[in-house]
Amino acid sequence: MGKNIAIFASGNGTNAENIIHYFREKKTVDVRLVLTNRRQAFVLERAERLGVPCAWIPKEQWLEGDAVLDALNRQNIDFVVLAGFLLRVPDRVLHVYAHKMINIHPSLLPKFGGKGMYGDRVHEAVLEAGEHESGITIHYTSEQYDEGTVICQQKCPVLPGDTPDTLAQRVHALEYEYYPKVIEQLVLAL
Ligand code: GAR
Repeated sequence: MGKNIAIFASGNGTNAENIIHYFREKKTVDVRLVLTNRRQAFVLERAERLGVPCAWIPKEQWLEGDAVLDALNRQNIDFVVLAGFLLRVPDRVLHVYAHKMINIHPSLLPKFGGKGMYGDRVHEAVLEAGEHESGITIHYTSEQYDEGTVICQQKCPVLPGDTPDTLAQRVHALEYEYYPKVIEQLVLAL
């Protein structure tokens, strides 16, 4: 029987869209739900355009947990994927989805992770530190930001003359290539 996944996202949603496209052709995994904590998040427009049910849950309700668990239960969600989700996931939700919820971070954790480190801030910090490589980390979620068990890391070079934008593009390319495949492997092993 096929498995159902939900995506949590707070912003633009290019990873969410990439994941939805990847699984569209497959019968084994169904992207059933997109949830966001930001009413204006562009990911909502992407999900609507692609015909995936989506909802905005205000921050207070996210932190309390019930509304999120209800939404996941209604769609029989087996596995949750964070893709640019910037709020802490409440412990109650983490516990229900222990080892069934993963996150992607745009650096080689434990470097450049933690609260407040997301998106371009990460790339700016990598450049300021004079790093010669960066990349992505896919990891299980935990009570602490960016600290769960690492599942997969992929590296790319930091090139002379890079800006946060050019580095972000290289890192995004890794995200688009590897995140759907890792999700697929984990979901099919459930
Ligand atoms: C991605 O690069 C993701 O790794 C990052 O936010 C971006 C979202 O882009 N996540 C974090 O920084 C989490 N700490 P998208 O909205 O275009 O998918």
